[in-house]
Amino acid sequence: MVRCGRSSHARSSHSENHDQRSKNTISTVGSRDGRILLVEPKPKKGFASQFFDVVEKLIVKLMHDKQPSSQYLAGPGMFAPVHEETPPHPNLPVNGYLPEGLNGEFLMVGPNPKFMPVAGYHWYDGDGMVHGLRIKDGKATYFSRYVRTSRLKQEEYFGAAKFLKVGDLEGLSGVFMAILHILRSKFEILDISFGSGTCNTSLTYHHGKLLALGEMDKPYVLRILEDGDLQTVGMLDYDKRLEHSFTAHPKIDSFTGEMFTFGYALTPPYCTYRVISKDGYMLDPVPITLSEPTMMHDFAITENFAIFMDLPLNFRPMNLVTREQILAFDATKKARFGVLPRYSTDEIHMKWFELPNCFIFHNANAWEDGDEVVLITCRLERTDSMSIVNWIANPFDFTSELYEMRFNMKNGLASQKKLSLPSVDFPRVNNNYIGRRQRFVYATIVGKRTGIIKFDLHAEPLLGRKKFEVGGNIKGIFNLEPGKFCSDTVFVSRESGITSEEDDGYLIFFVCDENTGKSTVNVIDAKTMSVDPVAVVELPKRVPFGFHSFFATEEQLKAQTNF
Ligand SMILES: [Fe+2]
Repeated sequence: MVRCGRSSHARSSHSENHDQRSKNTISTVGSRDGRILLVEPKPKKGFASQFFDVVEKLIVKLMHDKQPSSQYLAGPGMFAPVHEETPPHPNLPVNGYLPEGLNGEFLMVGPNPKFMPVAGYHWYDGDGMVHGLRIKDGKATYFSRYVRTSRLKQEEYFGAAKFLKVGDLEGLSGVFMAILHILRSKFEILDISFGSGTCNTSLTYHHGKLLALGEMDKPYVLRILEDGDLQTVGMLDYDKRLEHSFTAHPKIDSFTGEMFTFGYALTPPYCTYRVISKDGYMLDPVPITLSEPTMMHDFAITENFAIFMDLPLNFRPMNLVTREQILAFDATKKARFGVLPRYSTDEIHMKWFELPNCFIFHNANAWEDGDEVVLITCRLERTDSMSIVNWIANPFDFTSELYEMRFNMKNGLASQKKLSLPSVDFPRVNNNYIGRRQRFVYATIVGKRTGIIKFDLHAEPLLGRKKFEVGGNIKGIFNLEPGKFCSDTVFVSRESGITSEEDDGYLIFFVCDENTGKSTVNVIDAKTMSVDPVAVVELPKRVPFGFHSFFATEEQLKAQTNF
């Protein structure tokens, strides 16, 4: 372990976070290109803290007209948080068998607030909790652990919720809650030098490190222990080269070992693109200039390009003054897609394409086909401006469809083709093919996530049907019984590498039974999509609805950086 201070000449004058952090001594572990900041925030109790607590109570009493949304907090529904972590619980009952190809750790992260919200609350606001299943030689061990973020550590210090929430940002009370948050950080009651995110959105693995991600923060490094348990090691800032937020959906090119990522912000240029070498070195920032702050949840890569989505869901803080929501969807705007040579050091090489208005949360994959760049994505088409914002409030009101979009780099034209009925999202492919042409897409049937569906991109869709049925480009459906709902799924190859058949492997996902409150991990055969699961592992605790899953292979577990 190395302990070091930061020299003043290394400070960034334009980064509030960076400036504040430099007041403290920063501890790190690891070697160059892999150093990890130990997250040791220094919040303060005292008169100012108590004063602002009283102010907060007054704001809530006088201006906040509703209780925190019970939809996300009350049990026994799928969203309700669990009240404690679960240490490794081994030797779980397995119906069926866990094949050798599944040796590794299946993980899902989602929001799980540790402290009751003071005012507003949205599903996005919960502290990141990781639920994991260590699979080894046919046996399974379950655990759940919080990502120990700066925000969580400080709220544990106060014993109460203190940070601003997405759910607070509505109307005039939202303005006051935002000002209160700024004052708490100015008076150093809250220490925002390590950010204020929850890291509740997704997980990935790069350069020997398992990373927990939330799109408003930097990556947190996790470590999986011998018994399958999980520890938070610290935060990654790529040797001070990362000074902006980091998407929850970076892309890793399995051919080159590089990671491609971006972060969006409320200040110009509103988006920044980064490439991280297979050795963990972050290249210089590439500004992506947008016309206004935009929610950009995902992007895509091909062998030679990166694809950015400038879709009309914008942050408008002044909306709060007029008692509207901070996110506004502009139904009059076109959807813009920017295609940039992926090693460009400047955005002047970006080609922008326009398609009809839409919003997109998640892309499946992208590749090149002659002069065209092809994007396979889940597209939400809603013409009324409130629908997208309402979806943010109600994630079951979801109507996205699988689409193929094509961007012709020679003539500048774009086209799109619908590939499915509503509603599917959380698309996944065999990760070995990220950025390369592939055939099969696995997705979750949404709103309430009632099953897993497999699409064959080589077949034509049958769009005249009223509901999902096998046929056309639908190669298989794994439906859940009424009352059961699933997480997004991950494809795990039977054998590692791109040499095996693309769909020769397993789909693994959490299932929660709303009627009984019991949870399982299900494994199904991705090739056959048989209705008979390969394995169902019974879990000792309920696992609430999470955001995204990840499978860490045995090789990745062994290759974890030794901190
Ligand atoms: Fe996502």
